[in-house]
Amino acid sequence: MSNERAANITVDGKSVEFPVLRGAVGPDVIDIRSLYAKTGMFTFDPGFLSTAACRSAITFVDGKAGTLLYRGYPIEQLAYQCDYLEVCYLILKGELPNATQKQAWIKEISDHTMVHEQLSRLFTGFRRDAHPMAVLVGVVGALSAFYHDAMDFSDQAHRDQSADRLLAKIPSIVAMAYKYSVGLPFVRARNDLDYAANFLHMMFATPCEEYVPNPVLARALDRILIVHADHEQGASTSTVRLAGSSGANPFACIASGMACLWGPAHGGASEAVLNMLEEIRDASRIGKYLARAKDKNDSFRLEGFGHRVYKSFDPRGKIMRETCHEVLNELGLHDDPLFKLALDLERIALEDDFFVSKGLYPNVDFYSGIVKRALGIPNEMFTAIFAMARTVGWIAHWNEMIGEADQKIGRPRQLFVGSPRRDVVPRDKR
Ligand code: ACO
Repeated sequence: MSNERAANITVDGKSVEFPVLRGAVGPDVIDIRSLYAKTGMFTFDPGFLSTAACRSAITFVDGKAGTLLYRGYPIEQLAYQCDYLEVCYLILKGELPNATQKQAWIKEISDHTMVHEQLSRLFTGFRRDAHPMAVLVGVVGALSAFYHDAMDFSDQAHRDQSADRLLAKIPSIVAMAYKYSVGLPFVRARNDLDYAANFLHMMFATPCEEYVPNPVLARALDRILIVHADHEQGASTSTVRLAGSSGANPFACIASGMACLWGPAHGGASEAVLNMLEEIRDASRIGKYLARAKDKNDSFRLEGFGHRVYKSFDPRGKIMRETCHEVLNELGLHDDPLFKLALDLERIALEDDFFVSKGLYPNVDFYSGIVKRALGIPNEMFTAIFAMARTVGWIAHWNEMIGEADQKIGRPRQLFVGSPRRDVVPRDKR
């Protein structure tokens, strides 16, 4: 990065110059770190519409062009030519593994797939009807209480150890949350299966019946994991960075990211899409729901449409749409009414001026919910699958931030609009 360019801001007739930092690709940024010292003013940007909160070399998104790159590689190439663990290696370490590195990596992760027996017992403290995300946030946060051998986060080896544990154990914990919710015994990992197939095994095998993973379905899940693996500074990733900036325990930081992801404006969307499609029920009712989505006085939104960054299309949505066709063909469900309804809704919304003019296109979660449903995963588990996929991104960002030489605790300022200083009136005079 160089600062050949500069930006001038004029405050009360006085011009102040700030350096402009250049990224590898994408918009440059005005470095306003000295703004308060020079002008006595803060910037105001709730929702971070124009604020780059950090430097990062992991993921690049161009919302106008519909481009998503992990470490420079387009998401389409990664989704069709790599598997999830290779993508994890890339996101964490910066390069794709060669064959030897891949085998060592698989072994490194497989060595940690089991969870501590005490952690298994934690599940029984939850109600069976608890939302899986509530269980996940609690259990992943509780991992902080189990690993005291790798607590020096300034040491890269300790950070790597935490990363391995998280990547390996999250699928086990997500599957346990599901088994617990339906009252079935936990199923242990099978390290001879790949990451996605092993997860399906832990979800659907029982002590009475082996689960034989269908390669098309395992590949579809693997692709869901790849397209959700990272998305630069989304709300949950920013949450992890902010939590981690104080030097907090990584397992607790990842749990905070999961809590943020749960919301319907973020990772809760794929669950919300399925609920919405079930509510719409029939193509003849689409018009009524589109009218509701346009009505300013109605809080209803078309779930799975729109994105803060993508304003022309979401490249992950395209991959998921194709994967959806593959899975439904494999299962003989191409006439599935819900899938047909989703296609109708997509077509009608994409021809509607309101959605076109606002740049509202189907996002990744519009189709990923239908794929997950076809895999036999219940709606309430959808966000947990997203959390499993995104864990690698959260760890990579946490790791990148901790490793920065000038890392500071995150501490935004505010525009204060409350009461100025005043004195407490004695109780009998209020
Ligand atoms: N349905 C109807 N109208 C919408 C929708 C939608 N899905 N999304 C945005 N709009 C409208 C807003 O009402 C607003 O209209 P206005 O300009 O007349 O006020 C305009 O489009 C801009 O919307 P914002 O909420 O300001 O856009 P923002 O970038 O803040 O929000 C978000 C993006 C949260 C994703 C939004 O589009 C949304 O709520 N979508 C539905 C939920 C969803 O699918 N979330 C998943 C995101 S992908 C992910 O997390 C992996």
